[in-house]
Amino acid sequence: MPQQEERRAALTADDVVLVTGAAGVIGRVVVPYLAGSGLRVVAADREPFASPKAERIIVGDTRDPAFVEESLRPFGRPVDAVVHLAAIAAPGKLPEDETLVQNVQGAYLVLDGAGRAGVRCAVAASSFAAYGYAWAGRDLSPPYVPIDEEQPSVAIDSYGLSKTMTEQVGAFATRRWGMPTTLLRFPFVGDGDRLAARLAEVRRDVGANRRELWAWLDTRDAARAVYAVLTSGLTGHHVFNVAAPDSATTVPTAELLARYHPTTRVRASLGTFDSLVDSSAVRRVLGFETRYGWRDDPASA
Ligand SMILES: NC(=O)c1ccc[n+]([C@@H]2O[C@H](COP(=O)([O-])OP(=O)(O)OC[C@H]3O[C@@H](n4cnc5c(N)ncnc54)[C@H](O)[C@@H]3O)[C@@H](O)[C@H]2O)c1
Repeated sequence: MPQQEERRAALTADDVVLVTGAAGVIGRVVVPYLAGSGLRVVAADREPFASPKAERIIVGDTRDPAFVEESLRPFGRPVDAVVHLAAIAAPGKLPEDETLVQNVQGAYLVLDGAGRAGVRCAVAASSFAAYGYAWAGRDLSPPYVPIDEEQPSVAIDSYGLSKTMTEQVGAFATRRWGMPTTLLRFPFVGDGDRLAARLAEVRRDVGANRRELWAWLDTRDAARAVYAVLTSGLTGHHVFNVAAPDSATTVPTAELLARYHPTTRVRASLGTFDSLVDSSAVRRVLGFETRYGWRDDPASA
């Protein structure tokens, strides 16, 4: 295989980004955010959708090699970056094997194809579910908190497995093609009504959210994190947690742990409402800080 020249996630204004899954919860916010930041956005999804800020909209399936090939060269040359969000975004929507196969196949075609095409960098959505607690179907407690990226996956659900495999596909694409890949482990992501509904659920029954460790992220911060990676200058393969610094509840974090995860070791001193997900790596490497919170919003309290 020919040696590839080193590529860098260092996009500047007018560079072209392909966003897959552009019609989804996160894609709908990522596309206008990237476009508003000066990038030219090609938005792809298998569902027909409107996306006023996208320069081009393409409809097709990321499991179709011809569609992926075409999406990676919308203007006759490779896009500068790919943001891969298309996936079956939760378990239970499809049979387990379908969730696994669709997510891994899509990631493979998009990320490997991007590397092969000469795309300069890729960002893809992983998930807190990669750790394995969120959808295990039974109570599992992490060995320690805050959970950092070193904590191994204990996934026993196919969605969580699909996310660990998506991360592996990213690492593979970097090794194979020298294309930088960054996988962002998002917890629950939402804003507006979606976030309000989640906060209300947690307020009604705080224990029901124990497997997600009350972690959350505003969709606008997810979009900002994607942009931060695209413009970071990073090389190589990276996996980052990206979560809000606080929890999605007014119950103090120490109390949550004592009640629902009493065997978990607490490795750092935790503030009253601190998140149990450690996002210090993305802060350290990219200088990325979240901006949006819910505690000051009287409607959410
Ligand atoms: N929203 C969250 O809370 C959350 C949390 C963690 C990780 N994630 C991850 O972030 C990404 C985006 O999630 P979302 O919440 O926007 O999901 P979503 O379901 O709202 O959107 C996903 C989009 O991808 C499209 N899609 C799915 N499979 C496709 C395929 N094979 N070809 C083309 N398009 C396809 C769907 O039509 C949909 O518009 C996913 O990878 C998901 O696993 C989401």
